[in-house]
Amino acid sequence: MNSNAWWRSAVVYQVYPRSFADASGDGIGDLPGIADRLPAIAELGVDAIWLSPYYPSPQHDAGYDVADYTDVDPRLGSLADVDRILTGAHALGMRVLVDLVPNHSSWDHPWFRAALASAPGSPERARYLFRDGKGPGGDEPPNNWQSVFGGPAWERVTEADGTPGQWYLHLFDRSQPDLDWTDPEVVAFFDDVLRFWLDRGVDGFRVDVANAMAKAPGLPDVAPTAGTDRSGSSPMWEQPEVHDIIRHWRTITDSYPGQRILTGEAWVFPVERLAAWVRPDEMHQAFNFPFLEAPFEATELRRVVQRSLDAFGSVDAPSTWVLSNHDVVRHASRLVMDPLPIGGLRRDHAAVTDPARGVRVARAATAVMLALPGSAYLFQGEELGLPEVFDIPDALRQDPTFARSGGEHLGRDGCRVPIPWTADAPAFGFNATGESWLPQPASWAAFARDAQRGVAGSTLEFYRAALATRRAEGLGGAALEWTDAAPAGVLGFRVGAVRVWANTTADAVPLPEGDVLLASGPLQGEALPAETTVWIRG
Ligand code: GLC
Repeated sequence: MNSNAWWRSAVVYQVYPRSFADASGDGIGDLPGIADRLPAIAELGVDAIWLSPYYPSPQHDAGYDVADYTDVDPRLGSLADVDRILTGAHALGMRVLVDLVPNHSSWDHPWFRAALASAPGSPERARYLFRDGKGPGGDEPPNNWQSVFGGPAWERVTEADGTPGQWYLHLFDRSQPDLDWTDPEVVAFFDDVLRFWLDRGVDGFRVDVANAMAKAPGLPDVAPTAGTDRSGSSPMWEQPEVHDIIRHWRTITDSYPGQRILTGEAWVFPVERLAAWVRPDEMHQAFNFPFLEAPFEATELRRVVQRSLDAFGSVDAPSTWVLSNHDVVRHASRLVMDPLPIGGLRRDHAAVTDPARGVRVARAATAVMLALPGSAYLFQGEELGLPEVFDIPDALRQDPTFARSGGEHLGRDGCRVPIPWTADAPAFGFNATGESWLPQPASWAAFARDAQRGVAGSTLEFYRAALATRRAEGLGGAALEWTDAAPAGVLGFRVGAVRVWANTTADAVPLPEGDVLLASGPLQGEALPAETTVWIRG
């Protein structure tokens, strides 16, 4: 193992292409927009970017429904634009990860179209999970599995002769049929996909739903007792064969020079189970969602951080840390919601009434995250302190979870609103036309990058300072020690030469002695205010 490997302490910035920057002006962000704005990302001081999918797609799940794995959606750009991003990012000292979506394709993928046009039992159908229905006439789904997005995980097709036919499995939207990874053609196809992008120069992959590719043989019903217990076994997730697929991919990434990596998106709980996905011959790292789901509370944070360090350490993997991404309520809102909106935003969640407190707590949590040893993931817009958008009109909501849950789940659109660049410009500088695929709140002028850049105390400058100090102090590669001297409700630890105090309480506490290297918010003389984190030398 190479303990200096770049990814072990990297900070990775997630770019969600459709909401980052829109060079064409059609209201959907694109790759030329990203290529133009790479210097703004580099200026933050991150080590890498991760691009969410930009592949040709009918966009029923914002591109996580891929119709062609080795091309670019014409609305988002072209392969030449990917090359421009790779060259541009590399020249700025940033690596580039791309999204690999292997569990399912789009229903517009030529394979799925061929499957629909072919007979039951054909090789075309064998690439997906087609099954006969149960009950009279095969009218009932083959088993009781539910889609992650709500409703049954099976959709019935109409056969070529017009009769109701077989059912296909989709763990997500019905436009996302699951591939059958026992079919050697599927395996060989994805080998080529990996090589296609590695040959083009990508530095690795973020692997979408990395724990799902294999299903339990025979597709047995989910036991009724499984309920919402996320630590138990399920016939849909965490099957042993998935590890074989990942080990095989690891041999592919390892065969390329330059430390190419696999980062797994696996909603696996608890973290000890997650660690099984980053054993030395599997993925390099996996998103730490147990950390993301933790409240901003000292005891709970200490528990989840120590447990993460222990679990990942036991397999010699670095821990990762993440607070926001395109699937969860932005942490500038989430951390001040009660109860925490774990599992997504529902109609019965109250909107945040004190957004300033939301930003304060988010910055305090970020200052904890960026001090921790290991690798951290940022989501575009968090460096601006963007809140979740709660009031998107129902008619404009696009996330399939909204419709599939009958509107009970509001879905993930609220964290995907195009980000503001310029306070005083159409669409806040997202493009030149003012178009936006989701409406931007008028209040976002205050969050625009140009309103924060160079402004002392802004969230943007706080992120830049935190990232610069993290790098200068080598925090990502240092060891963590808890300091029990901190008052109740204050998370206290030392990483390298830096002492971190995160006051998670509603009251100020005395500031510890030493030079303040970073503060997540204004200090009050000798006091560390409520919901504020400091990094101190001494
Ligand atoms: C992952 C993605 C999410 C997508 C789902 C299905 O969880 O992050 O956005 O909807 O997979 O591909």
